Amino acid sequence: MPPHVVVLGAGVIGLSSALRIQAEGHAVTIVARDFPSGSETIDAQSQINYTSPWGGAHNRIVPPTNPAEEREHAMSLRTFDHMRAVQARYPEAGITFMKGIEYLEAPSEAYRALTEERARSRLGVKGFRLLKEGELPEGVKWGCEYDTWCVNPMVYCSFLLRRFAILGGKVLRREVRDPREVFSWNFEAGPVDVLINASGNGFGDENMFITRGQTCLVANPCPVTVTRQNADGSWTFCVPRNFDGGTIIGGTKEPNNWDPNPSLEVRETLLRKFAATYPQILGSESKFTVMKDIVGRRPTRKGGIRLEKEQVGNKQTIIHAYGLGGRGYELSWGGG
Ligand SMILES: Cc1cc2nc3c(=O)[nH]c(=O)nc-3n(C[C@H](O)[C@H](O)[C@H](O)COP(=O)(O)OP(=O)(O)OC[C@H]3O[C@@H](n4cnc5c(N)ncnc54)[C@H](O)[C@@H]3O)c2cc1C
Ligand SMILES: *[C@@H]1O[C@H](CO)[C@@H](O)[C@H](O)[C@H]1NC(C)=O
Ligand SMILES: *[C@@H]1O[C@H](CO)[C@@H](O)[C@H](O)[C@H]1NC(C)=O
Repeated sequence: MPPHVVVLGAGVIGLSSALRIQAEGHAVTIVARDFPSGSETIDAQSQINYTSPWGGAHNRIVPPTNPAEEREHAMSLRTFDHMRAVQARYPEAGITFMKGIEYLEAPSEAYRALTEERARSRLGVKGFRLLKEGELPEGVKWGCEYDTWCVNPMVYCSFLLRRFAILGGKVLRREVRDPREVFSWNFEAGPVDVLINASGNGFGDENMFITRGQTCLVANPCPVTVTRQNADGSWTFCVPRNFDGGTIIGGTKEPNNWDPNPSLEVRETLLRKFAATYPQILGSESKFTVMKDIVGRRPTRKGGIRLEKEQVGNKQTIIHAYGLGGRGYELSWGGG
């Protein structure tokens, strides 16, 4: 029998890992409390800890300034190539390629040093162009555009789950108390040789914390993904979801804030700032059509992503794959 791998978690990380491991010939079972379904029916209260439905999700360039950022950048490039191949072969996967625009009010040295030559050849960013002064909105000091992609999260995650199942993968909806208990369960595919811990916010790693994000889903379409970093440290962005998913207008980044309820005041600020940055979004009726407010909890980890192997018994192995923070989709196909 081929080795049996159990993946704990059916967020973007668990699903991508499961497909990848399955492609190497292993028998794979996904065990999770939450699975992808239509984003219209994912529950804002009871499924708030399931982060994948609440993400944007777009891919952005982040000019690396240290080895950890270099590694994430390389992961984002591998994911970019994978997404392009999947999009070409499976138009229904929920992926859209489009231009990404970055606007910065107070660019750091890493941005100011980002020439077209460096971005294209050294960083491998496709379609990169610096914006000219006349192309920048008021208050913005630096801007660029480049080729990128966005996904409609639940369309994309449901696609991954369907691919996994048609290729013979098994799924089991269970809540577990400790990932290790899975080693003692009886599975159709036999005893568990390897467990992938892709539990997102999961259980008790002291280095884990959440970064709350409030965004607003609007029905207005948008042909590009725009991100503005404001001088006060706040963010103004949009992420088109396509496939009838509307557009996400965001958003906050609040470490350790567990408030599950959206603030109406925050919604109004997000919409006002985005409209000032990219007025075309308002369309011919000059207004936003709000669908709903979103609150999500990015699974963030001090010291960064945990991607490592741990031997727990003489024949049992856990591979940790969690703590992707605000970049779970962007980096999902990046592991070597
Ligand atoms: C507002 C917002 C905007 C974002 N925008 C972007 C973006 O533009 N681009 C991007 O790349 N990322 C973005 N993210 C981040 C991205 O959504 C996350 O990094 C990603 O979804 C994390 O996926 P995951 O698979 O690690 O965790 P999750 O999606 O949380 O999945 C965890 C899985 O583990 C299961 N699980 C957990 N505990 C248990 C248990 N005890 N028993 C059984 N199962 C369990 C859950 O049921 C679930 O299936 C955003 C996030 C937020 C909140
Ligand atoms: C989300 O996770 C936190 C921390 O583990 C927990 O206290 C809370 O009950 C969870 N919420 C839901 C709705 O499951
Ligand atoms: C599994 O991952 C969670 C994070 O989701 C972490 O807190 C926990 O320590 C890991 N569990 C084990 C048994 O390694």
